[in-house]
Amino acid sequence: MEVVVLSAWTLDDVADQRGRAVVVTGGNTGLGFETAAMFAEKGADVLIACRDPRKAAAAVERIMARSPRGTVRAGVLDLADLDSVRAFAHAVVGGQERLDVLVNNAAVMWPPLTRTRQGFESQFGTNHLGHFALTGRLLPLLLGTPGARVTTVTSLAQTQGHIDLADLNWHTRPYSTTAAYAQSKLANMLFTLELGRRLRAAGLGQVSTASHPGWTATELTRHSPALVRRVSPWVGMRPDKGALTTLRAATAPEAQGVGYWGPRYFFETKGGPVPAKIVARARDAAVATRLWEESTRLTGVAYRLTDPTGQTE
Ligand SMILES: NC(=O)c1ccc[n+]([C@@H]2O[C@H](COP(=O)([O-])OP(=O)(O)OC[C@H]3O[C@@H](n4cnc5c(N)ncnc54)[C@H](OP(=O)(O)O)[C@@H]3O)[C@@H](O)[C@H]2O)c1
Repeated sequence: MEVVVLSAWTLDDVADQRGRAVVVTGGNTGLGFETAAMFAEKGADVLIACRDPRKAAAAVERIMARSPRGTVRAGVLDLADLDSVRAFAHAVVGGQERLDVLVNNAAVMWPPLTRTRQGFESQFGTNHLGHFALTGRLLPLLLGTPGARVTTVTSLAQTQGHIDLADLNWHTRPYSTTAAYAQSKLANMLFTLELGRRLRAAGLGQVSTASHPGWTATELTRHSPALVRRVSPWVGMRPDKGALTTLRAATAPEAQGVGYWGPRYFFETKGGPVPAKIVARARDAAVATRLWEESTRLTGVAYRLTDPTGQTE
C-alpha cells in the first residue's frame, strides 16, 4: 500500500517573484511585515504602505537585513484618511508601470469608538472603506498588469459579522467594538467575492482572493483584554507562519477569479494554508452589491472596470 505524506505548504512553494511589483498595506509589523519580507525574499519589488514613516523605515531596514533577492521601499498611507489614500495611490500610479499584487492587509481591532478623518467608524473605515478606496484608485495599474491580483486579509471574525446597511458607521446603534470588527472583516470578504464577480463580468483576467491567518501572535491585540494579550504569544502562530496564508492567497496559481485560504487545523486557527470555508453570509451577493454601492457613495471612488484605464473619477 502506498503511503501518501501530505507536506505543509511553505515559502518554497512560491514561484520566483522577480520582476513582479507588490504593495502590502500595514507592512511595518505583524503579518504584513512577514508578507512583505517573504515577497522580497522571493525576488519581488515590494512597497510597504504604512501610516508611520519611522516604523516604515525601520521595517525596510529589517527586511533589507535579511538580504532579499528583491527590493523593498516604503510609502505613507493612512487608511483612516481618504485624502492620504488618494495621495498614496496617485504616487504609485504615477511612479510605477505595473502592480502584480495588492495585499490589503492593514487593520485595527477592537479600539474604543473613534472615527476616521472623514467621520467613519474607525474599524469599518480603516479595514474596509480605506481598502475599497485604495483598490479602486490603484485600478489603472492593476488593470494594466496581466494576471494582477488583489488579496484582502480577513478574519474568522467574519463568521460573527453582520452588515447593518442602515447604520454602517455606528451612528444610531449602541457601539460594540467586537461587532464593529466583525462587520469590517465580513465586509472584507464580501468585497473580495464581489470584486471577483465584477472582474469576471467585465471579462477581465485579474484575480480577487482573500486569506485569514487564524490566530497569529501580533500587535493586533493592542486593544484586547489583558488575558488575550498574555495568552496570544503562547496560543497564536508566529507571524512568519500565519503570513503563509496571505502569501498563498496572493500567489497560488490555481486561483481562477477568486479564492480563499486559511490555516488547516484546530477549526482553522493554526497550521499551514489550505482552502478555507466561505460561510453563507459572505456569499450573499445581494448584501455584497448593496455594500459596494454604499462604499462607492461613502468614499467617492467608483470602479470603472470596463474602462481600460481603470479611472475611478
Ligand atoms: N493576528 C491575528 O490573529 C489575526 C487574525 C485574524 C485576522 N487578522 C488580520 O490580519 C491582518 C494583519 O493584522 P496583524 O495581526 O498583523 O496586526 P498588527 O500587527 O496590529 O498589524 C496591523 C498593521 O496595520 C496597520 N494599520 C492600522 N491602522 C492603519 C491605518 N489607518 N493606515 C495604515 N495602516 C494601518 C498597522 O500600522 P501601525 O503599526 O502604525 O499601527 C500595522 O502595520 C489584519 O487585516 C487583521 O484583521 C489577524
